[in-house]
Amino acid sequence: MKNFAERLIAWQKRHGRHGLPWQQTRDPYAVWLSEIMLQQTQVGSVIPYYQRFMLRFPNIATLAAAPLDEVLAHWSGLGYYARGRNLHCAAQMMVERHGGIFPDKFESVMALPGIGRSTAAAILAFAFGQRRAILDGNVKRVLARCFGIAGYPGLKPVENILWQKAESLLPDSGIETYTQALMDLGATVCHRKPVCVACPLNAGCVAFKQGRVAELPEPKPRKPQPQRETVMLILLREGEVYLEKRPPVGIWGGLWSFPEADVKEDALAACRERFGIEGRPLPALPDFTHTFTHFRLKVQPCPIAVTAWRPEARQPEGLWLNLEEALGAAVPTPVRRLLEQLGG
Ligand code: ADE
Repeated sequence: MKNFAERLIAWQKRHGRHGLPWQQTRDPYAVWLSEIMLQQTQVGSVIPYYQRFMLRFPNIATLAAAPLDEVLAHWSGLGYYARGRNLHCAAQMMVERHGGIFPDKFESVMALPGIGRSTAAAILAFAFGQRRAILDGNVKRVLARCFGIAGYPGLKPVENILWQKAESLLPDSGIETYTQALMDLGATVCHRKPVCVACPLNAGCVAFKQGRVAELPEPKPRKPQPQRETVMLILLREGEVYLEKRPPVGIWGGLWSFPEADVKEDALAACRERFGIEGRPLPALPDFTHTFTHFRLKVQPCPIAVTAWRPEARQPEGLWLNLEEALGAAVPTPVRRLLEQLGG
């Protein structure tokens, strides 16, 4: 896209976030601390933690010399405590390796615990004005949409393409504002429900132009779900069908459904044993699969014409209903579909 960086920089100056405590300094220690705190936590929650932390541990030397317990006490409530432990450990490493000075070499920064490629780049850009690309979750979302980059951004090949893109877009000057702009756009405009009318990139944004904003970036591919199988016993008697109320917990809790049998069971024997019903198989209905959040259920519908029954074997939670009544009951979708097929 033409003018990508220019548009972002102009937008940041007018609409970006300004006056945050860590924006008042180029002290790499302060910038580092803020970037670590902001990794999984929103700006509003970070501010008071950042201020307390900076008061108690104003520089690398005080942090390195402090007991870990006290560092973690200042992290308490912020979550992801490995961040606090890594911070403490990195401060000690900087005392040992770099004389207590925050390094300005990318490789040295990356070598510190808790600092990945994107965080290292952000620190070096904000603290030293180095021209480096960042690619955190927010930036991945902006780039995937803007350039129509398909695939889950957590996959290496997709991430590599995004890094290349991020590197190719850097401005010749103004890296600090540009970097902040990308972060701010991702956090305030190009989020899960993006506000595309307010976006400085909308004119060139592939996702916006193609109406694919909701589809990009692509979500994490789902693991294949486990599959279960069941037989639904569709008992038919004098224009009525037999439904049971399911237990209140578990799938379809409290809804009305057909009694079920194991796929290994003999369906007619199951009817005899459980309901005192004699029956004759009717022409089968097609199998189908219903997808739940955590598994797939393959259903074999098994229609049976009831030929004789023992009334005393009636189940407490079962009812004979005509089709209209059954369709008016609280039935789950697959049961509704089967009832509709019986009617047709
Ligand atoms: N998220 C990560 N780094 C940030 C920063 N410097 N400002 C605002 N949000 C951020």
